[in-house]
Amino acid sequence: MTFEIKKVGVIGAGTMGSGIAAHLANAGVEVLLLDMPQSGFGKKNQLAEQAIERLQKVDPAAFMTPKMAKFITPGNLEDDLEKLSACDWIIEAIVENLDAKQNLYQKLEGILKPHTIISSNTSTILLRHLIKDRTKIFQSSFMITHFFNPPRYMRLLEVIKSSFTDPKKVEAIKLFTDIKLGKSVVDCHDSPGFIGNRIGIFWLQLAVLEAIQQGLKVEEVDALFSKPMGIPKTGVFGLIDLVGLDLMPLIGTSMKASLPSHDLYCQLEQETPLIQKMISEGYVGRKGKGGFYRINRDNGSKTKEVIDLITGTYSQTNKVKLSILENTSTLKDLLSYPDQYGKYVWSVLSQLLCYVASKVDEIADDIVAIDTAMKLGYGWKYGPFELLDKIGTSWFVQRLKEEGRAVPSLLEKVGSHSFYKVQDGKLHHLILKGGYQEIQRLPGQLLLSDIKITSKPLAKNGSAALWDIGDGVVCLEFTSKMNSIDLDIMKMIHKAVEIVQKDYKALVIYNEGQNFSVGANLGLALFAVNCALWPLIQQLVAEGQQAYKALKYAPFPVVGAPSGMALGGGCEILLHCDAIQAHAETYMGLVEVGVGLVPAWGGCKEMLGRWLNHHKRPGGAMVAVGKVFEMIGTATVAKSAFEAKELLFIKEENEITMNRDRLLAAAKQKALDLVKDYHPPQAHLYSLPGGVARVALSMAVKVLVKAGKATPYDEEVSKYLATILSGGDIDITDTQGEDEILKLEREAFITLIKNPKTLARIEHILATGKPLRN
Ligand code: NAI
Repeated sequence: MTFEIKKVGVIGAGTMGSGIAAHLANAGVEVLLLDMPQSGFGKKNQLAEQAIERLQKVDPAAFMTPKMAKFITPGNLEDDLEKLSACDWIIEAIVENLDAKQNLYQKLEGILKPHTIISSNTSTILLRHLIKDRTKIFQSSFMITHFFNPPRYMRLLEVIKSSFTDPKKVEAIKLFTDIKLGKSVVDCHDSPGFIGNRIGIFWLQLAVLEAIQQGLKVEEVDALFSKPMGIPKTGVFGLIDLVGLDLMPLIGTSMKASLPSHDLYCQLEQETPLIQKMISEGYVGRKGKGGFYRINRDNGSKTKEVIDLITGTYSQTNKVKLSILENTSTLKDLLSYPDQYGKYVWSVLSQLLCYVASKVDEIADDIVAIDTAMKLGYGWKYGPFELLDKIGTSWFVQRLKEEGRAVPSLLEKVGSHSFYKVQDGKLHHLILKGGYQEIQRLPGQLLLSDIKITSKPLAKNGSAALWDIGDGVVCLEFTSKMNSIDLDIMKMIHKAVEIVQKDYKALVIYNEGQNFSVGANLGLALFAVNCALWPLIQQLVAEGQQAYKALKYAPFPVVGAPSGMALGGGCEILLHCDAIQAHAETYMGLVEVGVGLVPAWGGCKEMLGRWLNHHKRPGGAMVAVGKVFEMIGTATVAKSAFEAKELLFIKEENEITMNRDRLLAAAKQKALDLVKDYHPPQAHLYSLPGGVARVALSMAVKVLVKAGKATPYDEEVSKYLATILSGGDIDITDTQGEDEILKLEREAFITLIKNPKTLARIEHILATGKPLRN
């Protein structure tokens, strides 16, 4: 029997159930969302209905476009229980209480069909307890699928099965959640907290207790346990604020109840009076009045404050300046630094890594599962074993021995070797019974990081590289800081055109950074302006236009494969590709007006072309110009690849990949599909409305300025934008080519970048990361 998942029932419309339902809807799957019936006429479905309403307002957005909400049907467990039998997968996400879950399962037994798969989203209850006293068919259909919060954005999915679970059902769920929901599935053993929370909560708990004992401040801990270790900037206390202080003792107590008393976790799990007090006063984190950090809005201003762990009083946060952070560059240096902070970091990290090393076979099949869980569930750049490889396990073990501490046998086993190594050009990991095993990728997964281990680039400079990714396809990778676009990238584009034309079939533009590209290198632009290097700026603009044009008209297919932000120049390069194979979590936009500029690497030209094509009917040009003006003038950013399609940043016929690890393979396949009978695109011809449109657009902006929704300088910038989009000083009967629109872009850009107000905007964004509304 094969299991196809087309319809899913989700029970429990709280934080997780509703979030999971929304993400299933993002995948275009029909969802039946049920919760307990409410009393009152017409109110029985109220909990699920309210959840769907809430989902449309949450930030970050749960739906990839508001339209996805239509896939969810609300209901209640009294009237709609029977309807679950039409579902291929039933996900239970009700309150974390064993009795409540077992009562529900008993009811579900009556409606189970042979094809039904059922899973729980429990974070702490063991599977063997959940299926106790259930029928054989229930047990064979049951597993735990532990999503992380928020389900749309967290890539980790922990799957726990029992010896009774039908392996085909497990495989069906793994494949579905991987391809349709974009999750990285990690197999976990049926042990308390599974992998992510077992390690993550231990780490948080330990870091908090030691901080209190050793007298460290909240911001100091967060500065240490963040960037220096490749951990998100929320650090320890910021993360607890995000998750909710109230959840910590709940998870902790539940885990303690299931763990043997000799487990180190049980010795750690102690009530902290300060945290108890904070919870009782409503300081439960970001969802409440604040937590370790809070925003004080007294006196009409917004001040970020932080709590003192000893006195419990709040004061304004200050930038942390620690000599340990200034004087160390490696993790080993950090752990050896001879001050109280070095001592703290060593104490927490060494206990954590020893704990993890001693639990591997209890919680997981291998070390890769553990590293993956921490990277995807907690956003760590390196998993615990990758951290050990960075530190050097032999040094780590030596230090433990010097301190007279016990050394976990796995660490002894590794000795002077590492947990990961490259062997015969392939990445291998240590296996528990000794020796190494190759890390296998699933069919349809292709990672540039793997290719980079085994090969040398075809070409490389300070900002980009070209890689042979097989089957005649080349990958252009940005490597600059935040993948910002500069002259070296332009050079590499020309190199790519030359190389592919000579020896290859197609080009894919892709990288594995957090963001595809944040846009042009503004630092470089600022430097050039400050030194009045106008020829350099002219060159930057003209070369960008030429390079992107060379991509568009290259005699081979070019496919852009973005993930994360693709802004400004990063968006413009994609607009010049034959096709975009986008990761669902792609955020595209032409945001140049935010820094007092206009898109000048063909962004106006391409968006105009697309919208003019979209509104071909008579009079449509005015509508198209208005739409592009509004989008660029308000720096609209699509909040998903689906939204990018609605805004025509991505063409209707292009496809979206849900799983980040499948993006490169899909883009490569798309490029190969385009190779046969490939012809470069036809150039756009523009019939633009000229001065009439310019006046109309200017009037619209004036209204916004009057209403306080735009600043006078926004009005100034938008005048230049209106000039480009309306075709400049032309007669309404004229048609223009792409080069004429590019010329208008260049002229507007060069004028605006000389304006001190634009400069002030650029300086501000570089200094603060935030736009200046001057
Ligand atoms: P929640 O409290 O936000 O929502 C629970 C929902 O279940 C509520 O809508 C409630 O009306 C409903 N419910 C309660 N008892 C019920 C019953 N007997 N029958 C039917 N419905 C009932 O809880 P949350 O946070 O969504 O958690 C749900 C599950 O997901 C729990 O097992 C939790 O451990 C797990 N989980 C929670 C995470 C989180 O960050 N909140 C993360 C991962 C897993």
